[in-house]
Amino acid sequence: MSKRRNILITGGAGFIGSHVVRLFVTKYPEYHIINLDNLTYAGNLANLKDIEDCENYTFIKADIADLETMRRVVRDYKIDGIIHLAAESHVDRSIKDPFTFARTNVMGTLSLLQAAREYWESLPERYEGKLFYHISTDEVYGALELTAPEGIESPFTTSASSEHHQAYGEDFFVETTKYNPHSPYSASKASSDHFVRAYHDTYGMPTVVTNCSNNYGPYQFPEKLIPLFINNIRKRKPLPVYGKGENVRDWLYVEDHARAIDMIFHTGKVAETYNIGGFNEWKNIDIIRVIIKTVDRLLGNPEGYSDELITFVTDRAGHDLRYAIDSRKLQRELGWEPSLQFEEGIEKTVRWYLDNQEWMDNITSGNYEKYYEEMYGNR
Ligand code: NAD
Ligand code: DAU
Repeated sequence: MSKRRNILITGGAGFIGSHVVRLFVTKYPEYHIINLDNLTYAGNLANLKDIEDCENYTFIKADIADLETMRRVVRDYKIDGIIHLAAESHVDRSIKDPFTFARTNVMGTLSLLQAAREYWESLPERYEGKLFYHISTDEVYGALELTAPEGIESPFTTSASSEHHQAYGEDFFVETTKYNPHSPYSASKASSDHFVRAYHDTYGMPTVVTNCSNNYGPYQFPEKLIPLFINNIRKRKPLPVYGKGENVRDWLYVEDHARAIDMIFHTGKVAETYNIGGFNEWKNIDIIRVIIKTVDRLLGNPEGYSDELITFVTDRAGHDLRYAIDSRKLQRELGWEPSLQFEEGIEKTVRWYLDNQEWMDNITSGNYEKYYEEMYGNR
């Protein structure tokens, strides 16, 4: 497409958002990409150093819950597409402070929807050529049971996802699975999803919602399992495993998520929901062992050297047992599938964190230790 489009990406200084911004800025020089982010503790402009001087890129520091500012940005930049990622994203923080999650994830999304609606409805062409694309999570569907005996291969594993090929139950989240969120985080994301669909059904706004599984890869804030554990192994600090480490997550390399977002933004059907996932389920304790093994090998430590850092701690309240996404609709209708084998993705990820220690050290100096202690106590 050669037409210049003004695309607002929210949360672009965060983990997934920075990969989406980088992809759009480099792949579509004809688009103007406006990255709007409030730079909370999770937002980091160092994630975008390599593209910050690009001619088709603008950064705006603003709060999505500030309706007046959202109105002004959408109007001044003549926005015709929105990819909305800005959110409070960490489950443990939502347990401590649910109000911040309601404010940003619910009121922030609503402010953005309202600003877009007012601007687009004021134009002669109204909603033609416009799209509000909302990025959501598999956590809105609740939790699945662990029913499969160990060693069962995933019936849906694609050749590209993993050599691991394990499913831990017969059930998967599909696009029609009833919402059943358990944490304040997932409740706030579920609420925002409902508002997005309501703006389509009530006002005719062209919207799309996608629900994705756990992402991993470079630039993830080290409060999330994988970067936290890589950093703790490097610093020989305890690895806090919640409960017995039996919970199952479905892991997708972040660039594969960004590619899916690109594809859905350009070719997805309005008012549809697409699930995005890697058919790549792991029990936490198993993925932790892979991380330990990979970090030890890359640091030249003897095999098993960091196993002693594993520390079982009190479980997360309301900890969802298993997430597993069935992403066959996206594969069937738009031809997307994960490009990386998990084994390759985790190797790339561990290498990236070890090669970018300055990025990690900049984050974990300053207030990080204080935040961490306030959140988790002195583990
Ligand atoms: P993140 O926490 O790394 O980044 C969130 C970004 O939003 C940060 O840059 C932060 O500064 C910004 N932000 C927060 N509050 C804001 C506000 N009020 N106004 C403007 N900006 C604000 O999150 P992430 O992991 O990159 O997740 C991005 C999106 O993808 C979220 O909507 C999340 O729910 C969703 N998601 C994440 C995953 C995952 O595994 N990380 C999986 C599925 C869906
Ligand atoms: O499923 C998608 C979701 O994945 C996203 O919507 C969220 O934004 C994202 O944070 C992620 O949520 P999780 O809660 O699954 O991710 P987290 O990295 O916090 O935890 C992964 C698993 O590891 C989970 O079962 C809890 C466990 N865990 C986590 C941490 C931080 C531990 O055992 N110890 C830890 O220290």
